[in-house]
Formats: sequence, C-alpha cells, structure tokens
Amino acid sequence: MSDTTSPPTSYYERHIFFCLNQRTNGEDCCAQHQAQEAFDRCKQQVKAAGLAGPGKVRVNKAGCLDRCAAGPVAVVYPEAVWYSFVDTQDIDEIVESHLKNGKVVERLLTPAHLGR
Ligand code: FES
Repeated sequence: MSDTTSPPTSYYERHIFFCLNQRTNGEDCCAQHQAQEAFDRCKQQVKAAGLAGPGKVRVNKAGCLDRCAAGPVAVVYPEAVWYSFVDTQDIDEIVESHLKNGKVVERLLTPAHLGR
C-alpha cells in the first residue's frame, strides 16, 4: 500500500530542457544560436561527470519554450531556473555549478521580463 502522506520521490534530481526549436519562416529561434551544440555539450558533460541517470540528471530536448527573445534558453527543474547561454563554457558552468552542485549560475540567468 502506498504512503499518501509524503510527496512522491522525484525520478530525476534535476531535469534540464533545451529549446531546440527551428523556425523556417525567417523568425529568430534558438536553433539559429547554436542550441543543438549546447544541448550536445550538456549531454556529453553530464555523462562524463557521472551525473546521468535515475536519481541524478536528465538532459532533454524541447520545442519552443516561448522565451525566444532571451534565446537560446534552457530551464532546470525542480528549481525552475532559466538560463540564457552563449557558448560551451556557459554550458560547462551550468553543469558543474547547478546540475552537479545545486548552485545557480547567477550571471547566466534569463532576464525575468524576456518572453517571446
Ligand atoms: S525558439 Fe527557443 S524559446 Fe522560442
């Protein structure tokens, strides 16, 4: 019988989603700003650090997260922290600081007012 008084345990400790949206109508999108490369780098670094898997970290692709004006973007749950990144060094810092050690990378936070 399940215990109904305690919340369910999260399958992953942290989950990061990268917008990889590619637009074909000429509008700006994260795919035009090396989002795929950032996603690949994150997956590689998470795996190399031994962080990948149940109870640890999951790196996922996402479609448009509707914050295109801040792109390229990624969001980390359960903290719901949004990042706007530029290069692979930024990704490495997110992996080491936030995904591994739970410390938010303040300098890469997406400005709160930027949406689509
Ligand atoms: S295209 Fe990436 S958030 Fe919309």
